Amino acid sequence: MLNKRDIYTALIEVVRFYKRLDFDVLPSIPFELTAVRPHPEAAQPRLMHPVQATVVASQPKDPISPSQAAPQVIVKASKLDSNRQDLLQDIRDEIGQCTRCKLHTGRKNIVFGEGAPYARLMFIGEGPGADEDIQGRPFVGRAGKLLTSLINKMGFERQAVYIANIVKCRPPGNRDPEEDEMKGCIGFLEKQIAVINPEIIVTLGSVSTRILLKTDKRISDLRGHFHEYRGIKVMPTFHPSYLLRNSSQKWTTWNDALMVLKELGLQPLE
Ligand code: URA
Repeated sequence: MLNKRDIYTALIEVVRFYKRLDFDVLPSIPFELTAVRPHPEAAQPRLMHPVQATVVASQPKDPISPSQAAPQVIVKASKLDSNRQDLLQDIRDEIGQCTRCKLHTGRKNIVFGEGAPYARLMFIGEGPGADEDIQGRPFVGRAGKLLTSLINKMGFERQAVYIANIVKCRPPGNRDPEEDEMKGCIGFLEKQIAVINPEIIVTLGSVSTRILLKTDKRISDLRGHFHEYRGIKVMPTFHPSYLLRNSSQKWTTWNDALMVLKELGLQPLE
């Protein structure tokens, strides 16, 4: 049985832990405090990812927001069998200069997706924004920087995961993709997932979660639990654009990220 002093000490430890991570807002739900307890070995600097490990020493401060420090990347992209790369290229070739839906009229570039063909972890957003449309790459704008930072702070190089979207062309004015647009495009994502065959998919926001899991439930009800897509575990979490507007939800997102790492047999970076 904990006495008052023990509880106080434990609380201080938790607050210190989050302070080190540079959270600017305390979580509003007390549950999150207990759910994301500091790892018992949190004090010792350690190599978190036993697999494919390369340590670049530096001290990440914030598990989500970009920091000045160079990312402490543990899981690096590696050159592996080119077979899956070829299969992905086949899918890209099949898309061609797509005119299957109305989104093609306003797009500058098709945003196919990028990352490691053998990624253990895949992130899926809804559709490209303005920056992605210009560069032809997923998640490279403000929200993308936040996502990249989250990926790095989970211990992965961005190139070591795979990032894609439900639709591959930018919906005008950053509106949500419409049903016909998603219906026309989802087949390509399904093929990408089949080739990459990740251990875990993280769906970012309600659109990709709804489409992949074929559900109408709210993201806030779905996040924090594993679901399943064709035998692959799916962790829904908040979209990074939402996190830019609702910084307190970084806590919950980090919580989801910790669950993903645990499922992969990895631990978060200190
Ligand atoms: N938002 C998304 O859902 N996808 C992107 O690629 C960029 C922003």
